[in-house]
Amino acid sequence: MSAISFDPARGVWLLSTPRTSYALRVDDTGAPCHLAWGPRLTLAAAGELVSPPAGEISSFEGRPPAGEELPVDGGTRYGAPSLRVQFADGTRAFEWQPVGHSTGEPSPGTAELALEFCDRHYPLTVVLHYRVHDDSDVIERWTVLRNTSREPLTVLRADSAAWTLPPRDDYRLSHVTGRWSAEGLLHREPVPHGETVLTSRRGITSHHANPWVMLDAGDATEDRGEVWSAALAWSGSWHVTVQRTPDGRTAFTGGAGQDGTALPLGPGEEYTTPRCAALYTDGGFGAASRAWHAHTLAHVLPHPEELRPVLFNSWEATGFDVSESGQKALAGQAAELGVELYVVDDGWFGARRDDTAGLGDWTPAAKGFPDGLTPLIEEVHRLGMRFGLWVEPEMVNPDSDLYRAHPDWVLHFPHRARTELRNQLVLNFARDDVAEWAYGWLTRLVADNGIDFLKWDMNRAFSEAGWPDRAEGQDVLWTRYVHNLYAVIDRLRADHHGLRIETCSGGGGRVDLGILSRTDQAWPSDNTDAADRVSIQHGFSQVYPARAMTAWVTDVPNQLTGRCVPLRYRFHVAMAGVLAIGGDLAHWTAEERAEGAELVARYKEVRHIVQHGTQHRLRGPGDDGPTAVQYTTGDRREAFVLVWQRAPRHGTPLPVLRLAGLDPAARYRDTGTGTVHHASVLTGYGITPDLPRGDWASTSLHLVRVDE
Ligand code: DGJ
Repeated sequence: MSAISFDPARGVWLLSTPRTSYALRVDDTGAPCHLAWGPRLTLAAAGELVSPPAGEISSFEGRPPAGEELPVDGGTRYGAPSLRVQFADGTRAFEWQPVGHSTGEPSPGTAELALEFCDRHYPLTVVLHYRVHDDSDVIERWTVLRNTSREPLTVLRADSAAWTLPPRDDYRLSHVTGRWSAEGLLHREPVPHGETVLTSRRGITSHHANPWVMLDAGDATEDRGEVWSAALAWSGSWHVTVQRTPDGRTAFTGGAGQDGTALPLGPGEEYTTPRCAALYTDGGFGAASRAWHAHTLAHVLPHPEELRPVLFNSWEATGFDVSESGQKALAGQAAELGVELYVVDDGWFGARRDDTAGLGDWTPAAKGFPDGLTPLIEEVHRLGMRFGLWVEPEMVNPDSDLYRAHPDWVLHFPHRARTELRNQLVLNFARDDVAEWAYGWLTRLVADNGIDFLKWDMNRAFSEAGWPDRAEGQDVLWTRYVHNLYAVIDRLRADHHGLRIETCSGGGGRVDLGILSRTDQAWPSDNTDAADRVSIQHGFSQVYPARAMTAWVTDVPNQLTGRCVPLRYRFHVAMAGVLAIGGDLAHWTAEERAEGAELVARYKEVRHIVQHGTQHRLRGPGDDGPTAVQYTTGDRREAFVLVWQRAPRHGTPLPVLRLAGLDPAARYRDTGTGTVHHASVLTGYGITPDLPRGDWASTSLHLVRVDE
């Protein structure tokens, strides 16, 4: 059970989640200070952590840089601030004054605490919000700023939250970096003394980093040890600063935006930061990931109970060469394989025959679709599949009717180049007229055509991010853009209850808890090479669940890498998420189609385990030998294991896989062979995967509990 309790004698607030505690208090100066985040404590025990104010150590020290709930720029603070404001007279320092607090239960099983402060002199209110859930160890935090004066002020930095780790001998940081088609590369490295900044300055979440961190004391493994982690629910530029202080402590602060931008806050205006969610576990990185997956399913994704359908996407099969007849033929072949959702990718609209023209003109291409989309959609529905369509609403090609009519709608500065990337410019979604235009054509497109699914793409980073028509436009656009983007998606969903959306930004450029709260699945990478994909999926799985991860089986040689991987292996890799097909089915042999249909059918038998189960990474891609992932249903009745081995070494015995999360007293039947195993053997002693000889060996194992 989660709860929020208060000890008035010591001024201690205790937030309890099912397995963890978080404690804080307002100190004698009025500042909100951190006490504890980790294993469970009672309120009385948390009180023991209150230490008397430190006497002055030297005139060079100031307040400790770690240990405040939201370190401000002000007083004798010299660490990375979470909050920096500039008042109308130019003053920058903020001084805390407590105003009050409130607690509540916004929904069953959820408790909230709001601590309200103001500045001692200037009219600015700061409210720190905390939310805990009965079924999750995640603590959500966000901050609200309110300008209560008649004069504007400037917010130079407003993070969602700062998080302090308890004292440990050492600290290590886990995070992902990457680039287009190489997202999610996991790094685990010592936290250097000083400040480490993880950030995106690109206007999107980015392929290059993802807004989550995991910290441990340098001793956690996949299965054991303390891990503190946090993830930001934001789809624009962001930053997280991890500090390791000279006195040996570690804390981090994170929020929306990037260095160098400022947010004007007019009289009476309020700014609410995005949420930053965080969780502690003593069960290692695997337990941290499982807790994130469970939280994302329970509290983030809009329709978590759904089983996502097997989809086909046309991109790698046909590129921009999309036509009614070609797509109808592919749809027929996809249906025979068992596909349930047919998605037409880029190329269906305007003058779009390659990436140089047409973006922005969202009417079906007259040549490819002389009678509009209806005949194709009717055919797809007749074949028993749902219909999905690719859109890229935030972009325009200069060679388009839209740009010719509205050259001022793009991000730009006067007297500066408008740098094209992929021959396109970014529409300024911060403008209400642009957002309204996008909402208008999208809602009509969905309604007029009975579209079931949109793949929402975004194919370049911001540049020359200006908005000359509006005072302070270049400062406000970074957040307004994301808020308007969210609002358009939210309105579309409200208009069309059956509509499902896939987030994509040239692959995994926009995957975060903010976009996932309003979309149904994510396209993690344009790299569909099964070998690379194992690592990309491993990175994705650190925080995001398999239920949200689309994975295509495409053709060989792979378009990007030229690598040839057997069809079965490609399927087995894609079965680790939401299985999809992206190959040119017209060129599949009869044997390949038969094998594909068999594997799609196999996936449908187990997808409830993959999409809704708990995930154990039995062996990671960095380990010698095979990589293996296990999924187990919540009731532990079924388990499904996928194993991939790229190139075995002669003389190295296959490692046994020790399964996890099974009912220890039960026995399980292997549905492939009929063999019955004791769970105690599977988990305690392990099982040798039945891998064929040779390179690119893969297998799957489906276990069902034997009801005695
Ligand atoms: C980038 C996406 O990630 C691809 O899957 C595809 O939709 C292309 N854009 C289309 O332009």
